[in-house]
Amino acid sequence: MERLDPDKLPRHVAIIMDGNGRWAKRRGLTRIVGHQKGTESVRDIVRTSRELGIKWLTLYAFSEENWKRPSYEVKALMGLLNRYLKSELKEMLDNGIRLACIGQTEKLPPEVQRTLWQTIEKTEHNTEMTLTLALSYGGRQEIVRAVKKMLGDIEKGTLHVNRITEERLSEYLYTADTPDPDLLIRTSGEYRISNFLLWQVAYTEIFTTPTLWPDFRKERYLEALLDYQKRERRFGTTGEQTIHPE
Ligand code: IPE
Ligand code: IPE
Ligand code: MG
Repeated sequence: MERLDPDKLPRHVAIIMDGNGRWAKRRGLTRIVGHQKGTESVRDIVRTSRELGIKWLTLYAFSEENWKRPSYEVKALMGLLNRYLKSELKEMLDNGIRLACIGQTEKLPPEVQRTLWQTIEKTEHNTEMTLTLALSYGGRQEIVRAVKKMLGDIEKGTLHVNRITEERLSEYLYTADTPDPDLLIRTSGEYRISNFLLWQVAYTEIFTTPTLWPDFRKERYLEALLDYQKRERRFGTTGEQTIHPE
């Protein structure tokens, strides 16, 4: 396989981890087994990202819309999340990984919230990589929340309408301190964003693969990164300008 160029790695990779249910169904197993298998991929991708030196990794673990799933599935997902956080703490500490979260985490079961915030606190001084979990997250909800917070500041007089810029609005999002994703990966062959990081993906490179999330391991990930490195990011300019920046 071709070698990755360490100087051209994406700074921030975001992943829509999809296909656990179908992975299980194909094997005559329950969806829950698919989710369990999916956490092994999470482990593998986090570890590989850290080894490669990727600074920001954001994983879509549970969408705002996923609350509509059958309650036993939601419960199983919450249990898996709780267990994952506990089992990975040591690895995060050993490898300088800081945990962060985005989304309406106040909706998560109290026990999961406790584990989540404890892990965030214990890893807060780590600087090698930030692993952000999107939990009860929705891009539209995030934007509505930002607008409300901005209006609150306008009422208080700490923000003036003329001062609202793209940068200022970004500061009101969950991702205020995070660079926009350079690469967005979606597994399982779907071509949709499913309400993930709507504002932030304006100029993100998108990679989709038919591989189902439980099968998405290091090898597949490296392929996605290689594909990313072959792309020319233009940001609205012409090809000539990107090759010979003025
Ligand atoms: C992704 O796998 C995990 C979550 C959304 C929590 P799915 O559960 O969506 O798997 P499919 O799409 O049904 O195969
Ligand atoms: C997106 O997957 C959410 C996560 C991966 C957490 P879904 O499986 O929920 O998305 P849709 O419903 O197929 O769009
Ligand atoms: Mg799905």
